[in-house]
Amino acid sequence: MAVDNPAETAEQLKEQIGKLKKEKGAVIMAHYYQSPELQDIADYVGDSLALAQIAAKLDNDIIVVCGVHFMGETAKILCPDKKVLIPDPTAGCSLADSCPPDKFAEFVDAHPGYTVISYVNTSAAVKARTDIVVTSGNAREIVETLPQDEKIIFGPDRNLGGYINNVTGRDMLLWDGACHVHEQFSLNGIMELKKEYPGAKVLVHPECKKPLQIIADKVGSTAVLLKYACESDATTFIVVTESGILHEMRKKCPDKHFIPAPPEQTGCACNECGYMKLNTLTKLRDCLRDEWPEVTVAPEIAAKAVRPIERMLSLSANINK
Ligand code: 13P
Ligand code: SF4
Repeated sequence: MAVDNPAETAEQLKEQIGKLKKEKGAVIMAHYYQSPELQDIADYVGDSLALAQIAAKLDNDIIVVCGVHFMGETAKILCPDKKVLIPDPTAGCSLADSCPPDKFAEFVDAHPGYTVISYVNTSAAVKARTDIVVTSGNAREIVETLPQDEKIIFGPDRNLGGYINNVTGRDMLLWDGACHVHEQFSLNGIMELKKEYPGAKVLVHPECKKPLQIIADKVGSTAVLLKYACESDATTFIVVTESGILHEMRKKCPDKHFIPAPPEQTGCACNECGYMKLNTLTKLRDCLRDEWPEVTVAPEIAAKAVRPIERMLSLSANINK
């Protein structure tokens, strides 16, 4: 339970959050990897693409993003005149950190004539050196809008980039980055689960390594995996992504059985993103009350980063509808 002070109950915090939200006309968005109580209290829950699509249309003066920092930055870049708050500003992302802006700029400069595609899990400064931003929910469709022989740099996730290369027949130049959560799922552990549950479908996020993509029944973003599970005739699913998504899967499909995939290392909670789980009900209440911590993006960076994000939104207008 994401409550920091045991003297305050989750119910008290939820009541205070509801009141503050109303008083201030704020809206709360949460990613599927947030703890269940944050997903339940949010006005909108979604994958990275949905959160960006929703942020672009909101008219509230205060937007609270329960997610990691790059998600707050994306909302701020799309809504520069609004106050964008994040319950814990130290909620980073190992994948975004695997792509330092100065090194990425050097890489881009060393490859003139390439179209630069960046995954949304990047800092605003990396987006500022990008032609089109993508998420795992639209990367394939967006790459397919480009001519087959277009020279493309794709960063920072080597696994998602490799997956897109495989399914589109491209040869994009990949940045060598990865997510520490998605890279540690155990192929052997999943094969063992498949023996135990022979009818189970394997749902894999494209940030996972290639062997896991190969054994998957479905590869996709959190929203894509959720939709597949709801629409499938199967009743059991092995879920190979951060375990927070299981909450919405179980809510939407209460009669189905969802099994979190095991990590390589036994006895650890490595299938949880520690950054995502830094946000708590207490921090959400405090941030609504204090209107702080606020996400800021330097205007000169935001002016450049907004273009590839808007390009993504226009190229994926029909996805998630
Ligand atoms: P989605 O865009 O699939 O929600 O994923 C975001 C993320 O951080 C994956 O690790
Ligand atoms: Fe970043 Fe991985 Fe956490 Fe997603 S799960 S926010 S990619 S560290």
